[in-house]
Amino acid sequence: MSNIPACNLEDLRGLAKRRLPRGVFEYVDRGVEDEVAMRENRRAFERLRMRPRVLRDVTGRSAASTLFGRPLAMPVAVAPTGAAGLVWYQGELALAKAAAAAGIPFTLATNAMTSMDTIAREAAGRLWFQLNMFADRTVSHALVARAAALDFEALVLTADCPVVPNREYNARNGFGLPFRLTPRSALDMLAHPRWLATVIGRYMLGTGLPRFENYPPELRTRVTGFSTSKSAARCEDLTWDDVRVLRDLWPRKLVIKGILAPQDALRAAELGADAVVVSNHGGRTVDSAMAPIEALPAIAEAVQGRVTLLLDSGVRRGSDVLKAIALGADAVLLGRPTLHGAAWAGQAGAEHALSLLHTEIEREMGLTGYRSIAQIGPELIERQPA
Ligand SMILES: Cc1cc2nc3c(=O)[nH]c(=O)nc-3n(C[C@H](O)[C@H](O)[C@H](O)COP(=O)(O)O)c2cc1C
Repeated sequence: MSNIPACNLEDLRGLAKRRLPRGVFEYVDRGVEDEVAMRENRRAFERLRMRPRVLRDVTGRSAASTLFGRPLAMPVAVAPTGAAGLVWYQGELALAKAAAAAGIPFTLATNAMTSMDTIAREAAGRLWFQLNMFADRTVSHALVARAAALDFEALVLTADCPVVPNREYNARNGFGLPFRLTPRSALDMLAHPRWLATVIGRYMLGTGLPRFENYPPELRTRVTGFSTSKSAARCEDLTWDDVRVLRDLWPRKLVIKGILAPQDALRAAELGADAVVVSNHGGRTVDSAMAPIEALPAIAEAVQGRVTLLLDSGVRRGSDVLKAIALGADAVLLGRPTLHGAAWAGQAGAEHALSLLHTEIEREMGLTGYRSIAQIGPELIERQPA
């Protein structure tokens, strides 16, 4: 039993809020503009009603599943989050180890503060690499070659963020990129000495302020020197031609992240992608974007099993995972909850988040009459008349 005082993922969020400077917490936790999409991600899950089945002997039930032909302890993977290294020293490593311990894949972000070599060396388990396309394509293609050499299982191209989203709280808090030391951000950090000592302090003892360790040396600026708006790691002219090139370059599983339109999912399938992530980036890009769980049925209908369907944005309960599986997802990704756990207790905190979710999934399966993930289908969801 973990001694982390959190009975559910929302409790972990509360712990993260206590531990982190406000600027870092909001950077991790909030959405974009008026946060409509982020709220809607939760509401869309909450609106879905289940029709449980009874008297079906649910002993020996298991959340175990398969993804890309390999076993998973539950149909969940850890989503790429650039800021993991700001909530915990080498937070990406903590997340990767937690995912391995939980028997699920971990996705390392291009904007990580731990290098992919360190992750591959120190974390056992299934590793995926999330790719930001740099304006200079050769930089991204070099990252792809490194990920291949390090045996990453999947390459996840982020498709839904070609332009800098409008996150006003970061500007207010001085916690955008580049990070600006203002009286407000300085006071904020000083009020959280434990974070300052155990996260920033540890970086300072090693290589100095955190930086984007996967960038080539000439672009590897520290958080104080990096500008999101001028970042080389973003290109507005990203197109399906880039997917075509990646398909030729990358020999293993190719995943396109940030799909909401059935046409885009079909296009990904046609170009040979192995999976798409139905996602609105956790409500962090387009504030009027529909909730992925509401986009999922039409996408599942369109692709007819030609690509693996992953879903993220707003998954917070075991019942959410069952709903996503019922509506056609093969697995879900988890973004903020594992970051919240890591902010409190590093690997142990992230493991706690995953263990809470695992327990909830298996409990909910028992209560709704399912012994295996493979049995769960659309009949679990009660459709309201339009
Ligand atoms: C702090 C933070 C940083 C993120 N960084 C990235 C990133 O670098 N690349 C990316 O594709 N998605 C990124 N995401 C989006 C996540 O991969 C995922 O789509 C989202 O968090 C899922 O929603 P959830 O947080 O409600 O689970 C980030 C999300 C958060 C919260």
